[in-house]
Amino acid sequence: MRSVCVIGLGYVGLPLALLSLEKGYTVHGLENNPKKVEKLAQEHPLLLVNHADALLCDVIIIAVPTPVDEKKLPDLSPVRVACEQITEKLTGKGQLIILESTVNPFVSRKYVLPILEQSGFKEGKDFFLAHCPERIDPGNVQWNVSNIPRVIGALHPEGLKLATEFYRSIISGTVSPLSSIEAAEMTKIYENSLRAVNIAFANEMAIVMQNMKLDAKEIIQSVKTKPFGLDLCFPSCGVGGHCIPVDPFYLIDESLKRGFDPSFLRTAMRVNGYMPAYTVSLLMHAMNETGKSVKGARVGVLGVSYKRNVDDVRESPALDILKRVKSLGAELKVYDPFIPEYSNATAEEVMGCDAVLLLTDHSEFLDYDYSKVPVLIDGKNALEKHKVGGVYKGIGR
Ligand SMILES: NC(=O)c1ccc[n+]([C@@H]2O[C@H](COP(=O)([O-])OP(=O)(O)OC[C@H]3O[C@@H](n4cnc5c(N)ncnc54)[C@H](O)[C@@H]3O)[C@@H](O)[C@H]2O)c1
Repeated sequence: MRSVCVIGLGYVGLPLALLSLEKGYTVHGLENNPKKVEKLAQEHPLLLVNHADALLCDVIIIAVPTPVDEKKLPDLSPVRVACEQITEKLTGKGQLIILESTVNPFVSRKYVLPILEQSGFKEGKDFFLAHCPERIDPGNVQWNVSNIPRVIGALHPEGLKLATEFYRSIISGTVSPLSSIEAAEMTKIYENSLRAVNIAFANEMAIVMQNMKLDAKEIIQSVKTKPFGLDLCFPSCGVGGHCIPVDPFYLIDESLKRGFDPSFLRTAMRVNGYMPAYTVSLLMHAMNETGKSVKGARVGVLGVSYKRNVDDVRESPALDILKRVKSLGAELKVYDPFIPEYSNATAEEVMGCDAVLLLTDHSEFLDYDYSKVPVLIDGKNALEKHKVGGVYKGIGR
């Protein structure tokens, strides 16, 4: 296996394509966003983007989005389109197709495979299908595409062998072959559902503690002193990104179809989904304390991306919060150094507002002087309370 094609050059696909290139593979990429294509051509000239023979590669990796629709149901249409593209060009010479996008158990077998077999070729003989869920955590400097351990499932033992060899040839982390393709699908959804539940617990407890005038940050630091048996998350203004607010809905959908309502997980998703509204209620209470209404006030926003020092706004709770504050009649001044297209003000203008919402803990925000801010809502519990001059409210503190 000497050539690799990655379909979808986003947060997942691009690092993987570049790593494969670094490891000596000939690497093609397919990307349908023209802006990204232009940027890629300038920044990564060795990566062959949108060439006609891309789908003839030995290994084809699907890294397209797997979002949910307005009803929070899985939207597999990008996966379908990518599979149809592959089907048209399959060579029948033993290519390895790897789905990296996060999906439910049974999607590879019952959704992806039938599309690929419309080519007339047979899995296990003419081509192989494997699933290796991506676990990348954008912005994490310790764990990245080259060292995060991988798990792999495949339909056929030969596919499992080929996929295991491929990942072992590019990453330094452990590569674990699993008993089935469904085991690999479930592993990823389990991880993200567990995290969603843990975060929801932290968020719910934060509201409980805020009502008791206890400081959630202090309490969690204190709980942390127990050296065993803990998996702690901190509360915040909500969950964001393409994984935690989305993936559990895939599992909920599949489980409901099989007759079991995973109510624990549904409750977790409801709690996390409620946090933007809770954050806005904190703003209203805090402004009340200063005798001002949100209506007509200038409300500054620091940060729109869903997490620190990245430019990703997908499912960011900040987007919901912005909408809600706007609908209350406030004039919004927004600044995010990572996303100029969402910024309509400078940091100074934001800091001069009647109230400031800190919605992302970008490093530079931590050094600002908050002593003159009349109202500060700390959506990430990132600041020292005593450094804020006016009314301070964090999430649960
Ligand atoms: N972002 C993360 O942190 C993360 C982490 C682990 C797993 N995942 C999973 O990985 C998958 C991809 O996520 P992402 O964050 O990289 O998404 P992304 O939106 O950043 O990238 C996907 C890219 O695919 C392109 N695309 C879509 N359909 C295409 C097609 N048919 N042909 C060519 N290009 C196409 C889009 O233009 C986009 O650039 C999802 O299933 C996600 O759940 C994401």
